[in-house]
Amino acid sequence: MELIDGKKISQEIKQEIAMQVQSILAEGGKRPTLAAILVGHDGGSETYVANKIKACEECGFNSRLIRFESDVTEDKLLEAIRQLNDDDEVDGFIVQLPLPKHISEQRVIETIDYHKDVDGFHPVNVGRMAIGLPCFKSATPAGIMMLLERYNIPTSGKRAVVLGRSNIVGKPVATLLMQKGYPGNATVTVCHSATDNIKEICREADIIIAALGQPGFVKADMVKPGATVIDVGTTRVPDSTRKSGYRLSGDVDFENVAPLCSYITPVPGGVGPMTITSLMRNTLLAASKSVYE
Ligand code: GUN
Repeated sequence: MELIDGKKISQEIKQEIAMQVQSILAEGGKRPTLAAILVGHDGGSETYVANKIKACEECGFNSRLIRFESDVTEDKLLEAIRQLNDDDEVDGFIVQLPLPKHISEQRVIETIDYHKDVDGFHPVNVGRMAIGLPCFKSATPAGIMMLLERYNIPTSGKRAVVLGRSNIVGKPVATLLMQKGYPGNATVTVCHSATDNIKEICREADIIIAALGQPGFVKADMVKPGATVIDVGTTRVPDSTRKSGYRLSGDVDFENVAPLCSYITPVPGGVGPMTITSLMRNTLLAASKSVYE
């Protein structure tokens, strides 16, 4: 069994990005700039956004944080998005999700100019990804594909089972795994809350991507010996032995599943760091006009 070290790979990629920023600056180009809008004070969102800003520093990007209280009106938030769309200093920006219930996430996503949508959530980017055109790929699925690639994990002709059908992980990672080329060419099955016989389906899988947000869902009797298991779960579970009062729990029963696998991602330190690094990569692509003119 080999542990997939997302932390190490993400450090390597951030260093590669920082070197590219150095050459852009040396040639008289401008420093890439990422902006983030954060609404309210949700603990998870605060941590994610703080980590994104820290990653910007590591990559040599400028960053901008725009905060609103959770009672901000949808109109005011949409106005801030339009300002960022029009701001030539900003190459890309994100609106951290989830948003308070009175705000339509879909309207927010569709208001972002897709040329600056470095999260890859806008329907134009999602659609272009589905048909294999240049686009901003959403960060977690792109991060998972980078891990498969950097560890040379075979995907062509392999059976991949994706657990979860969310718009930000399950659906896009299934799309990328089935696309022509490497890492892709897999035969993909997507399972969700209405799927019968999940255990039997998982047992057929060469690659399992667990993204349902149910701690410890994937048990040893669901995994074929030699499979690759990618754990996207990051549920906060109470833990009084930690200073924070919680720990992150993945969707895989790691202790019992890991000995069966050829490769497995830990939680934390697997997919999580790659998500932020993919966002940095998309920001560099936005700044260098590598996806859209
Ligand atoms: N909330 C959870 N994951 C993400 C993400 O990748 N981007 C944004 N904007 N919000 C999130």
